[in-house]
Amino acid sequence: MTEKKRGAIIGIGGIGMWHGEMMQATGRIQLVAVCDLNEALREKAAAKFPDAAFYTSYREMLSREKPDITAVVTPHNLHAPIAIHALQAGSNVIVEKPMATRYEDAVAMIRAARRARRSLTVFHNRRLDGWYLAAMSVIRSGILGDLVEMHSAINYKPSPATWRGWKEASGGILFDWGAHLVDYLLHFARSPVRSVSGFFYRARRSNPAHVEDHGSLQMKFASGATGTVTISGADRSAPLRYRIVGTRGTLTDEWNWSDDSKLKVFTAMPGGEQATMEVKYARTQPQKYYDNIADHLCEGKPLLVSPESAAMVINVLCAAERSHLKGGAPVPLSRAP
Ligand SMILES: NC(=O)c1ccc[n+]([C@@H]2O[C@H](COP(=O)([O-])OP(=O)(O)OC[C@H]3O[C@@H](n4cnc5c(N)ncnc54)[C@H](O)[C@@H]3O)[C@@H](O)[C@H]2O)c1
Repeated sequence: MTEKKRGAIIGIGGIGMWHGEMMQATGRIQLVAVCDLNEALREKAAAKFPDAAFYTSYREMLSREKPDITAVVTPHNLHAPIAIHALQAGSNVIVEKPMATRYEDAVAMIRAARRARRSLTVFHNRRLDGWYLAAMSVIRSGILGDLVEMHSAINYKPSPATWRGWKEASGGILFDWGAHLVDYLLHFARSPVRSVSGFFYRARRSNPAHVEDHGSLQMKFASGATGTVTISGADRSAPLRYRIVGTRGTLTDEWNWSDDSKLKVFTAMPGGEQATMEVKYARTQPQKYYDNIADHLCEGKPLLVSPESAAMVINVLCAAERSHLKGGAPVPLSRAP
């Protein structure tokens, strides 16, 4: 049995514990160190991971523990500076989504990984969601024909009582859930994004340091299709997770969370008669993400999530902001790093 790889986590809040569990469940990565500023959270994590060493300074942790892999699970605006420091300290890095709050930071992270000759990946676990995998197999089967218009939306209103409600820390209303929904549509489209337009709304008298109340962006793909992502703290209805319109069929999916759920496909028989099909979700397997990390570290297998693909999400989110400042005019995307 070869020695286990040394794992570390920076930020052991809401989702950091899950990273620790998945890291350990690989059987090939040992969680040796955890850093968090919050004492209560460190104590809670120490009960779960008694063999790990605990730190309040990630700089000290990285220099003492020399982890092979470090997961950065902090507020969004800290992803880039912490990830770059960890790469420079010699660790491979997993950073939570969204990769960064500014596209230039995402590019700097990729450059830092290349310079340090270390691997960088982003925790886009939602590429392993059962509903996404089912929708993807419907789209790739060709039953919808050519894609025309894609929509993905969710209602979400983060409170300023946490960092998520503050623009500087979170990046804005689109950066949390929007990182997942943009990622979904980029994969469905399988075509380069030509331009992005964005629209944001703030309630009158709202604090400009808080995230917006509503945000929407539209991507125009080289294929001719469009992709719209809306994150709303104003909408009181139940938006669809997906509405994917193709030349021969339409796919819709509600926000079900159980893998026993089904999405719907509206199409027509060869004779023209309308047909509606239900397609069961595939199995959601987030552990596959960490198993891939272990495969990558131990056997050199390619990463499931390339940093370039995650940076493209940030490129789109930032372009939406630029478009909004220009009155919603479509803006071309900067070139990929
Ligand atoms: N992929 C997913 O499904 C998913 C789900 C939830 C959250 N997330 C992402 O995970 C990240 C964290 O979200 P969360 O809900 O766990 O937030 P959280 O606020 O619960 O946890 C963040 C932790 O980071 C710690 N922290 C902040 N600054 C630090 C520093 N300088 N050094 C060490 N620790 C520091 C905080 O003390 C806190 O415990 C975000 O990027 C979020 O978008 C992803």
